[in-house]
Amino acid sequence: MIETARQRAKDMQLRLSAEIQALRKRPLAGGDKGTRRRELTLLNELRARARRTESDLEPISRRRQVLRNIQLRLVDEARFLRNWAGNPLKTGAVAPSGQELSRLMAHYVEAEHPGVIVELGPGTGAVTQALLERGVPAERLVLIEYSPDFCELLRERFPGATVVNGNAYALSDTMAELGNPPIASVISGLPLFTRPLPERERLLADAMRLMHPGAPFIQFSYALVPPVKRMVGATFSTSRWVLANLPPARVWLYRAVVERSSIAA
Ligand SMILES: C[S@@+](CC[C@H](N)C(=O)[O-])C[C@H]1O[C@@H](n2cnc3c(N)ncnc32)[C@H](O)[C@@H]1O
Repeated sequence: MIETARQRAKDMQLRLSAEIQALRKRPLAGGDKGTRRRELTLLNELRARARRTESDLEPISRRRQVLRNIQLRLVDEARFLRNWAGNPLKTGAVAPSGQELSRLMAHYVEAEHPGVIVELGPGTGAVTQALLERGVPAERLVLIEYSPDFCELLRERFPGATVVNGNAYALSDTMAELGNPPIASVISGLPLFTRPLPERERLLADAMRLMHPGAPFIQFSYALVPPVKRMVGATFSTSRWVLANLPPARVWLYRAVVERSSIAA
């Protein structure tokens, strides 16, 4: 109802603006400037009132949006907790990433390279949402998620994205099934530490082989040490800690070292 009232106030402003413009253009009949001035004053006043009405209604609708976001977050947290209770090692966290961490992750994506952005372990889509807000179209997203419940939710929330219900560690096979599209970046929320080191290393190596040369593999982690400490032919760096996240986390970036000759080519 509030939205309808706001829309009406907006429409009214548009109509009044059109009338003001038409009145200004109309030739003066009998040179009656006084009448035109009074009419213009009246129309301007009505338009100002419509504008005030619209802005008076705005905070209410914004508050509603905030409440709705809180509601959605609580529902997601409950979902996450349920998933975690069913499979703590796979879920890897008791709650979705917070907005600050999700945005920091999305910030590192290099969407200017051609191809898709692959998200591993998207969960309820906290980072996916940050990617959309950063301007990445849903059609460029490939989301690989292990939990069927989360996959259902992701399909509902991000209808344009390709959602694969499967194992992120089988990245090469999954991408082959999708026709091996070029990959601009890989962004991962997987709980890497629950897997043995050789599996983590293989995943990183596969991603680097499949991605645009030198593109980032973006991984968040709550741990003090990097998920993979050394990798031949790759470099890594870390972000600041996001202390507002529960638990605090930071982002690790892995990139293949690109030979100068392959840059020139
Ligand atoms: C720590 S949660 C992160 C969720 C989300 N990215 C976020 O930041 O809120 C890890 C997610 O990875 C998924 N996951 C764990 N192992 C996986 C695997 N092998 N393949 C695909 N998804 C996996 C879990 O189901 C869960 O949704």
